[in-house]
Order: sequence, then structure tokens, then C-alpha cells
Amino acid sequence: MTAIAALAGLGTALPSRRVTNEELSRTLDTDDQWIRSRTGIAQRFWSAGVATSDLAVEAGRNALRSAGSDAVDMVIVATTTPDHACPATAPDVASRLGLGTVPAFDVAAVCSGFVYGLACAAAHIAADLAARVLVIGAETYSTILDPGDRSTSVIFGDGAGAAVLRAAGPGAPGGFLGFDLGSDGSLKDLIIIPDGGSRQRTSKGDPAGSYFTMQGKPVFRHAVDRMTESAEALLEKAGWTAGTVDWFVGHQANARILRAVADGLGVKSDRVIIDMDRVGNTSAASIPLALARAVTDGNLVPGDRVLLSAFGGGVTWGSSALVWPDVPAL
Ligand code: UT7
Repeated sequence: MTAIAALAGLGTALPSRRVTNEELSRTLDTDDQWIRSRTGIAQRFWSAGVATSDLAVEAGRNALRSAGSDAVDMVIVATTTPDHACPATAPDVASRLGLGTVPAFDVAAVCSGFVYGLACAAAHIAADLAARVLVIGAETYSTILDPGDRSTSVIFGDGAGAAVLRAAGPGAPGGFLGFDLGSDGSLKDLIIIPDGGSRQRTSKGDPAGSYFTMQGKPVFRHAVDRMTESAEALLEKAGWTAGTVDWFVGHQANARILRAVADGLGVKSDRVIIDMDRVGNTSAASIPLALARAVTDGNLVPGDRVLLSAFGGGVTWGSSALVWPDVPAL
């Protein structure tokens, strides 16, 4: 019998420095009202002197504790902000968590990274290549934002969220009921750091090319369309209707995007988990951080039907679904 992957633990980490909209409006031509009304974001956390791996280790340790586990067979880190261009961040995280010499690698799917990471973990479990996998979404966007660009600086935050997946039989609580993943590389320029890769290694004297850039308007449109289509495909795979979804946990880019996707799906707006008000857009970390918030707030309880959907640079997208198990968010 093919094993499925089930959620066994959930952990998070946030840097200590809280950055309010008010603080940003002191240095940028922006204001709290614009940021809140256009995005739903009220604050975010930015790390000072903390690397992505530091947050990943903390979230990973919390997820292992939540799962009551001190060993896994594999570590996957989804990130757009690795500690170094080379090597990957995951082996360092695995080593610092005391997980021995397990396979460890990064997933680069920008804001869809956590869902891609879950799918990689589930595939390894289904192929009997691992029985327990730690999947971490971790980001320090504060290190790649152009401090003078009001269209990106007000949106992104740092943080990490992690999940332990275990092999289980079909129907097990927390079992992932399938994945829908996709990409469209013809839209790669919509979200891009132009320099620093093999295409353009150095910035030729203009530092602008080394910063994260995003064309907000088209990204918004594609995010709504792709997340809606992908979540619909997942509902069909899971055999659920939109009306039976207890919580829609989408990538926390913009509250208006999540409301539009929920609308398109037919999921009621009070079933949408909102977390960007607290942490901003934390890219690959946003879905596990939102799940943990929902558990901590007492909204998400065992037995709830949860639909996940993400969209990010690449462009990439992905969805999954599960019935919530009895796991603490630490
Ligand atoms: O996480 C990966 C996926 N990312 C996303 O899904 C993000 C998708 N995009 C968005 O969420 C939105 O497009 C943004 C929040 C980025 C921007 O919101 P928008 O409603 O699309 O604004 P806009 O870019 O069309 O700009 C409208 C106006 C412009 O001024 P003019 O040209 O109308 O005079 C901007 O210059 O708002 C201005 N603006 C700002 N004003 C105050 C842009 N950023 C700001 C700002 N404060 N921070």
C-alpha cells in the first residue's frame, strides 16, 4: 500500500524587531492608510543580523517538538533568501538541528515554495524514500528589499514556518489529499532580482539590479487567476465542494487577493485566514505562519477541512488540502 504524507508537527519563528507601517512612513512616501487598505498589512518583522538559516533552525526545532520527534529522514528548506548562493541552506539547518547526515536540499519556488516543499516531501514518502520529512519555509526579505522602493518595502517581512510530515495510511488525520502545482516561466520578469545570477553576475555599478523587484498589478491579476484555478483543481482531487471548506489558507500576499480567490471559489469570506496584518508577506514562510496563527487563535481545530493555495515568482503556483490533525503550533 502506498503511504501518504500526514502533518505531524508545526513550528514557527519570527525575528524580534517589529516594523510598523507608521515607522516605514517616516522614511518612505507612504502611509498606514494606503498600506492597510491596499494590502491588509499593519506590521511586519525584519531581522537585524539574523540569517534565513537562523529562523529556519528555530522554526524547525519547534516543529520537531510539536511532532514529539527528534529525527527525520530528510530536510527541505523553501526559500528565496538562502544564506548563500552556494551551498544550499538546508544541509546547514539539518546539521544545526542535530539531524545527522540526512539528505537536505533547498526548493526555489519563491512564494509557492512551501507548497512545493510539501509536495516534494509527500512524493518522497509515497516512493518509500523517507518516512519523516521536515519542510521549512524561511525568509529574510529585509535583506533583498530596496529600502527606497515603497512598492515592495511595505509588503514583505521575515519569518519561518516548519512542518513535520510522516508516512501514514490513507484517511489518516492530517493526510495531504493531493497537490496541484504549476508554473509559467514566460512571466519570470514580473518578480525578479535581475543581478547576482549567471545571467548578470554583478550590478555594473548600479545597485538597483541586486534588489527584489515586482510588477504588482499584473502579479495581482495572475495570482487571483492561478490560485483560483489551482484551488479548484485541488477541491476536485479531494472530492470537496467549496462550501465544505472550513478554512482557506492562501499565501499571505494581499488580503484583496485572498478575498477575490475565495469569492471565485465560492468560499465564504469569514473562512479565509488572514495573517498578513501581523507579519506582512513572508513568501515561503507565509502559509505555515498563517496555519500556526489560526491554531493559536483557536480558529483552526482538529477535524477542520483546510485548503491551501499559493502563488509566487517564476511564476509558480500550488495548492493542497488536508483535514486538520491534533497537532500543537509551537
Ligand atoms: O508574494 C508574491 C506574489 N505577490 C503578490 O501577489 C502581490 C500582488 N500585488 C499587489 O498586492 C498589489 O499590486 C500591490 C500591493 C503591490 C500594489 O497595490 P495596487 O493597488 O496594485 O497599487 P499600484 O501598484 O497600482 O499603485 C497605485 C498607486 C500608484 O500611484 P499612481 O500611479 O496612481 O499615482 C503607486 O505609485 O499607489 C502608489 N503606491 C503607493 N502609494 C503609497 C505604490 N506603493 C505605494 C505605497 N504607498 N507604499
